[in-house]
Amino acid sequence: MALKMSPNERLREPHSGAIRPNIFFHSSIDSPEEWRSALATQFETFTFSADCKANNPEKVDIALIWTIPNEGLEGFRNLKAVLSLGAGTDQLELGRLPKHVPVARLVDPSLTRTMVDYAKTAVYRYHRRFHIFESRSRGRNWTFVPPTLTASTCVGVLGLGEIGGNIALALHREGFEVRGWSRTPKELRGLKTYTGRDGLKALLGSSDIVLNVLPLTDETRHILSRELFAQFRDRTCLINMGRGDHLVEADLLEAIASRKIEAATLDVATVEPLPRTHPFWNHRNILITPHVAGICIPISAVQTIAVNIRRAMTGQPLLHQVVRNRIR
Ligand SMILES: NC(=O)c1ccc[n+]([C@@H]2O[C@H](COP(=O)([O-])OP(=O)(O)OC[C@H]3O[C@@H](n4cnc5c(N)ncnc54)[C@H](OP(=O)(O)O)[C@@H]3O)[C@@H](O)[C@H]2O)c1
Repeated sequence: MALKMSPNERLREPHSGAIRPNIFFHSSIDSPEEWRSALATQFETFTFSADCKANNPEKVDIALIWTIPNEGLEGFRNLKAVLSLGAGTDQLELGRLPKHVPVARLVDPSLTRTMVDYAKTAVYRYHRRFHIFESRSRGRNWTFVPPTLTASTCVGVLGLGEIGGNIALALHREGFEVRGWSRTPKELRGLKTYTGRDGLKALLGSSDIVLNVLPLTDETRHILSRELFAQFRDRTCLINMGRGDHLVEADLLEAIASRKIEAATLDVATVEPLPRTHPFWNHRNILITPHVAGICIPISAVQTIAVNIRRAMTGQPLLHQVVRNRIR
């Protein structure tokens, strides 16, 4: 559902005194102080609490959260909206949230921009063979590998939504041959796009680098598995920027051992932080980054969050509202 911010919403005076939301904040990865300051640029009067027990729970209007706190949200009887601090909502366990309360995911230019930058960096690292030079330089091995033009590298992007669509277009602008896969048909200038299992097979059979930025759903869980890798070209490079549970980790190790996959860049893992004993650490063909691909900067993201708070407080539908129980 793509409700768009109206021009009036974009231009609205930052200080609106009429709306006084009571906000509950919960995240183990975002700074409450930064968010409190960002919200203060949007609302003259509001309450902000990161402690489930501190406030009268019945007064809470908005839950601005990354995950559900251990205590749950049951006590928040007058909750008007749950606003995710992430682009994905899988970590919110939607089934545990009250059904009548609308939920919105976060769509923010700073988040999209950082995801695009990460994707370009990871793709160029493989395209310019830095992963090979990194390992050769440790062995003092000076061997020339001729560079190629971006047009000779085909990148397959799984997921063409807010983030994947922007990644695909940015890579296309760099001259890469880009193919994309989504649930419903998409028209993206200059790109070949596919849907369905046959479309996925066609994309995988022609990509040198496969980049996953799908949301985690019942349909996409464990999609990066032995069965899918069998459809890859030999020596494909894999980049996973979606969620750890998209990947069957043991199948990746097997695919690298058989050289179906040449190397992988993983920003997400089934268990985060990745346990110290995990075989991915120190694997010379795997680069781990600690779930840093997309960062949302509160002072930027608060613009959309504030619009959604105003919408929730005045009984309007939310921007980027999650459609529950959608069969993807
Ligand atoms: N690593 C990080 O730091 C980080 C940061 C932010 C986000 N993420 C991940 O990135 C994901 C995508 O974010 P987004 O904002 O781009 O989401 P989005 O706008 O909802 O886009 C999701 C895309 O995936 C497609 N899709 C969904 N289910 C599918 C299926 N079963 N088969 C084929 N295509 C399917 C959708 O197709 P339709 O358009 O046809 O529905 C859409 O193109 C998030 O859910 C999260 O997991 C990671």
